[in-house]
Amino acid sequence: MADLSTNFLGIKSPNPFWLASAPPTDKAYNVERAFEAGWGGVVWKTLGEAGPPVVNVNGPRYGAIWGPDRRLLGLNNIELITDRDLEINLREITEVKKRWPDRAMIVSIMVPCDEQSWKAILPRVEDTGADGIELNFGCPHGMSERGMGASVGQVPEYIQMVAEWCKQYCRLPVIVKLTPNITDIRYPARAAKAGGADAVSLINTISSIVSIDLDNFAPMPTIDGKGSHGGYCGPAVKPIALNMVAEIARDAETRGLPISGIGGIQTWRDAAEYIALGCGTVQVCTAAMTYGFKIVQEMTQGLSDWMDEKGYATLADFQGRAVPNVTDWQHLNLNYITKAKIDQDLCIKCGRCHIACEDTSHQAITSMVDGVRHFEVMDDECVGCNLCVNVCPVDDCITMVEMTEGTDPRTGRPIDPDYANWTTHPNNPMAKQAAE
Ligand SMILES: Cc1cc2nc3c(=O)[nH]c(=O)nc-3n(C[C@H](O)[C@H](O)[C@H](O)COP(=O)(O)O)c2cc1C
Ligand code: SF4
Ligand code: SF4
Repeated sequence: MADLSTNFLGIKSPNPFWLASAPPTDKAYNVERAFEAGWGGVVWKTLGEAGPPVVNVNGPRYGAIWGPDRRLLGLNNIELITDRDLEINLREITEVKKRWPDRAMIVSIMVPCDEQSWKAILPRVEDTGADGIELNFGCPHGMSERGMGASVGQVPEYIQMVAEWCKQYCRLPVIVKLTPNITDIRYPARAAKAGGADAVSLINTISSIVSIDLDNFAPMPTIDGKGSHGGYCGPAVKPIALNMVAEIARDAETRGLPISGIGGIQTWRDAAEYIALGCGTVQVCTAAMTYGFKIVQEMTQGLSDWMDEKGYATLADFQGRAVPNVTDWQHLNLNYITKAKIDQDLCIKCGRCHIACEDTSHQAITSMVDGVRHFEVMDDECVGCNLCVNVCPVDDCITMVEMTEGTDPRTGRPIDPDYANWTTHPNNPMAKQAAE
């Protein structure tokens, strides 16, 4: 059986699956049951500064997007950081860490952006025996209007400054949790590194309105007739998060910076994708909130089985393997030519591929041949765009097949086995200029 254990910044956990800072990690009762179920670690629900606890709304705090089978695809929340007393949280963290020494215990913190506030809370967190801290520069609602959360994460100079304070006043490893509500994720990641942070984690939630209630014309969730934007998470955000992780993993300035991947992780496969993009651990929130703590058992078993099948003994054997294959568009091989192929035995003749290709692509799929419904790709029209594959309801019914020799019937040009990209293409005015 594959070894799933991780050592992230010197913090050991039996597997890479950590619960992200959120309701599942809000109290000892939850965290202990999560550990019993098999989670490798937790990031405790974000602590605020000492004083009167944070106040949450008393009505609905979630909105959602569902697939046609009512499976949850995206979750939106307007919850704030922990609304439990700081003392109680610190006491529970201490007790839980003592009882579960082999699990990773990270404490998420969000206090006002001034040195005294950070200086005051850091030793108290350190005294709990926790393994590390995560700086919540991500929440896009509620706390950001008070100058915390995403409003810090959107200003690289602030990130650097707070990371420096944390390194100065605390001996624990510092993970900076990044907000995706920014144009270019590389800048905050670089700032975290410049501030001495040991790692970044991403993503926190995406600013969102998931829906408008058309009876009372207000965003969901609605509180007494009004709604505000919330933070979006769940399976729908995974593509955005993966891209941001990849950007950091391949950026010359942040390459090698440890990353804890977050966003839409629901299966072992999702986790493996994050690890392949360089992540050392992964964090999960929505999947645990949807399916319960035991979902980790499918994740660890699935990951372990896949690693056995592939011959990977440890996570390091495939960690980061996808990073060199992420490139910019201009470096893609323009001589790589594919055509769609329909497996007639699998085709149920629904016609979706024809409609998609006919109306919005390249009119390359038949619908009637000799008076009968028949769906077949015309290679002389097919540009290989892959749209039909994505709309076909039958798995593997349409596949993309590479042409390796002969002539492309669409262009009449011979297949060129050599790699050639846009940077040297004759239609590229910049390439022409460079050649002149
Ligand atoms: C209800 C709720 C509350 C959250 N609270 C926090 C929080 O206090 N601190 C934090 O850093 N992230 C918080 N998050 C964000 C999650 O930790 C995580 O970054 C995000 O949900 C993306 O992961 P997911 O797609 O697995 O849910 C919260 C998310 C949800 C749904
Ligand atoms: S790959 Fe694109 S162009 Fe070719 S058949 Fe499918 S949808 Fe049409
Ligand atoms: S979408 Fe798929 S199943 Fe439907 S007609 Fe096209 S190939 Fe056949």
